[in-house]
Amino acid sequence: MIKRLSEYCLFSLLCIATYSSCDYDTDGLDITDISVPDGYALSADISTVFLNSSTAYDVESNWVSGKYLTRFTTGNRLYDNALSSASGLGPVYAGYSCGSCHVNAGRTTPTLWTNGGSGSTGFSSMLIYITRKNGSFFQDYGRVLHDQAIYGVKPEGKLKVEYTKQTFTFPDGEEYELCKPNYTITEWYADSIKPEDLFCTVRIPLRHVGMGQMMALDPTEIEALAKQSNYPEYGISGRCNYVTEKGIRGVGLSGNKAQHQDLTVELGFSSDMGATNSRYPEEICEGQSQMKGGSLMGLTYDQLDVTAEEMEDVELYMQCLGVPARRNVNDPEVKKGEQKFYEAKCHLCHVTTLHTKPRGTSLMLGTRLPWLGGQTIHPYSDFLLHDMGSEIMGVGLNDNYVSGLARGNEWRTTPLWGVGLQKKVNGHTYFLHDGRARNFVEAIMWHGGEGEASKNLFKKMSKEDRDALIKFLESL
Ligand code: HEC
Ligand code: HEC
Repeated sequence: MIKRLSEYCLFSLLCIATYSSCDYDTDGLDITDISVPDGYALSADISTVFLNSSTAYDVESNWVSGKYLTRFTTGNRLYDNALSSASGLGPVYAGYSCGSCHVNAGRTTPTLWTNGGSGSTGFSSMLIYITRKNGSFFQDYGRVLHDQAIYGVKPEGKLKVEYTKQTFTFPDGEEYELCKPNYTITEWYADSIKPEDLFCTVRIPLRHVGMGQMMALDPTEIEALAKQSNYPEYGISGRCNYVTEKGIRGVGLSGNKAQHQDLTVELGFSSDMGATNSRYPEEICEGQSQMKGGSLMGLTYDQLDVTAEEMEDVELYMQCLGVPARRNVNDPEVKKGEQKFYEAKCHLCHVTTLHTKPRGTSLMLGTRLPWLGGQTIHPYSDFLLHDMGSEIMGVGLNDNYVSGLARGNEWRTTPLWGVGLQKKVNGHTYFLHDGRARNFVEAIMWHGGEGEASKNLFKKMSKEDRDALIKFLESL
């Protein structure tokens, strides 16, 4: 009896210690059986969704039900809710909702190619990072140039891009073109910054495929990969970005340089939209001459624009999203392309299989999502940084911008799951951190540095084999 009781106590203590409450699963579905439709393949165990449409990135996983589904729906709404100046937007901003840049939880078409930069109307969906040539931030502008503003306020500036185009040929005679962007900023709100003192780099939005799985990754698996990801014969050696956020130093996973540990919800609201919150209570243009004493044109900014609960719902929404299944897996050309992907050594960085931590994730206010635990996932990424080559035309992606430990030439391997659906979901095939690649071939041919050997293996392939490899990418 005594033993039983102590066993019971130990059990409840464990429950308290590990889950803080034992009823986490009463509202979510207990899914163990997944039937995979013909021609599809799992991407993330029970989080896989079998869709081949424009909503493929933007539906919940099957296990999301009850109060989680209610919160998912709330989070989805907040994510897409267009803010106005009355509900916290601006005064200056880069996007008016998360969904304005990540439409359908994907990658809104950047206006680089269509409008030559920010353009005069509409908005660009891009983030424009600016610094002085010596790397320090401009006091009045901060880290991001906000190319939009609410009525009566001037945008901080507008981006203009011009491309230097160069044509290359594959050994079999087929041509391809690579376009190197050159950026300038026009229409500064106060013309205080000289081009000689300006450094600028651009990001197009990232797809939100597998955000929950990314947060559930086991850092020790990623660190082990960094140790083991060392293939001198191909010149490949990945490494982790370590960043300190909220006082905790850890492995950076999100962002093009793995410069964040979390899903940047608070930063997104603050830095991208100008919506203040508990982590970033100050208006982003605080120091600017057009913002005087916390008030502007009679509007006062003394209340936080988004609550912590709302931000956790947004985080929950992103982590509960389903991961699109692979499609057309029985197509002979796709199968051949998959083989070519391995032959070109793409998988040494775009790692096909990883695992999530046993217990899943815990959101910013403590909500647990155990369903994300113990998954075998196929992200096609090692989430590590790689040197992708120097600036010389045609071979490198260096942008001279440092993020945490990541140097200018280092980029996180972009997860390729869902990449084949980007055209359906977002209507374009712009790739790489700044959208300079207009299709898969250009994206691959921009790989330099540690990606050079792999790129050259692709380059040497016959046209048929290259086409098959692209077909495979389209099946992801
Ligand atoms: C102005 C456009 C814009 C807005 C608005 C915006 N984002 Fe982003 N988002 C981006 C860009 C660009 C990147 C890539 C940034 C980088 O890597 O430096 C990104 C990256 C991300 C990532 C990293 C994804 C990954 O695969 O690592 C997450 C998560 C994210 N955004 C969430 C949000 C959320 C949540 C909101 C709303 C609170 C939001 N974003 C608002 C443009 C935007
Ligand atoms: C050395 C590591 C490495 C190797 C090898 C590699 N990649 Fe990449 N890949 C990256 C990195 C890092 C990026 C992100 C670069 C950027 O955004 O500027 C990337 C980006 C991409 C993108 C663009 C994704 C997007 O959504 O923007 C595609 C497509 C891609 N790689 C395909 C391939 C293929 C196919 C191969 C093999 C021929 C390959 N990669 C080999 C590291 C690698």
